[in-house]
Amino acid sequence: MAKHRIAWLPGDGVGVDVMEAAKLVLDKLGLDAEYVHGDIGWEFWCAEGDAFPARTIELLKHVDAALFGAITSKPVKAAAAELTPALRDKGLSYRSPIVRMRQMFDLYICLRPCKAYPKNPLNYKEGIDLVVFRENTEDLYAGVEFSPVPKELADQLARLAKPFASFAGLAPNDYAISCKINTQRGSERIIRAAFEYARKFRRKKVTVVHKANVVRATDGLFLEAARAVAADYAEIELDDANIDAMTMWLLKNPFNYDVLVAPNLYGDIISDLCAQMVGGLGFGCSGNIGEKLAVFEPTHGSAPKYAGQHKVNPIATILAAKMMLEWLGEVEMATSVESAVADVLVDGRVRTYDMGGSDSTLDMARAIAAGL
Ligand code: IPM
Ligand code: MG
Repeated sequence: MAKHRIAWLPGDGVGVDVMEAAKLVLDKLGLDAEYVHGDIGWEFWCAEGDAFPARTIELLKHVDAALFGAITSKPVKAAAAELTPALRDKGLSYRSPIVRMRQMFDLYICLRPCKAYPKNPLNYKEGIDLVVFRENTEDLYAGVEFSPVPKELADQLARLAKPFASFAGLAPNDYAISCKINTQRGSERIIRAAFEYARKFRRKKVTVVHKANVVRATDGLFLEAARAVAADYAEIELDDANIDAMTMWLLKNPFNYDVLVAPNLYGDIISDLCAQMVGGLGFGCSGNIGEKLAVFEPTHGSAPKYAGQHKVNPIATILAAKMMLEWLGEVEMATSVESAVADVLVDGRVRTYDMGGSDSTLDMARAIAAGL
């Protein structure tokens, strides 16, 4: 029996291309693993009305980790229009499989390291080394949304809201509500994960990203939780900033920051900004980590227009595979993958289109594998 059992979830679009590239690297390493393919993606939504079928959910209950490519997602109405005729009037509503997966398996940590590898032509500045901890299960992603707004809720809000509220007296279809829900437990555990990481890797500072001056209840809770958790980590500085100011300061001086921790949506935003500073879509890698299962992925989407062209940069997925190796306890292998990626970037001969070159997805993977 293989040492590790890994769910292999290419998804669709360029997800398929970048996963092939990652596989080439893992095979070269000789990882002792069984890879089990899982159906997930747009074609399963169209044909079965579910982009994340029950059989794939079942598979994830019996693996040590998963590597996931990318999935096309579309707004609710556009998605419904692409269902096969037999499914069209069933009232199915598309919901992002990765968001469902994070919640269903309680993958509460979204870990996004953003490191500028030397000589990457896409670096915003050399030497950036940021790590984002994004809460991954709640906040505005809680999935509690109303459109149209039910009458009982509208009546309740009419009683609670200020008389000048923009929605006062509106018809149910003239507004919509998405709830931001943040729990004490959910906030504490992601903040603790960020501090534990900082301690383990001797990072100096954890910056909490919020908007507690305006979104007082939920972000206030998050900030207070950070203050309480930080008390257990006297050697690490606690810093905090509003999300809006943070985007400016990060660009102005990324070296003032180290580990960042944020509720779900701000973490989504800030991690894209950080990824862009170290090379953009081709370099953003991500781990969705829970107590029992972890799912690793590039943060980019499925880029349908590039599907099957073997054009996109696989480094994000190869770095996600490196994170997966760490989670599996294969630290030496992880280190060699990272060095091989770093060497290819310093060498500079192989470059995908995003880096100004014309090498293919697999050319890049082969160059990395050759350095292992
Ligand atoms: C990400 C993505 C997802 C998210 C989308 C695809 C649902 O942007 O992983 O950052 O919003 O979390
Ligand atoms: Mg995102």
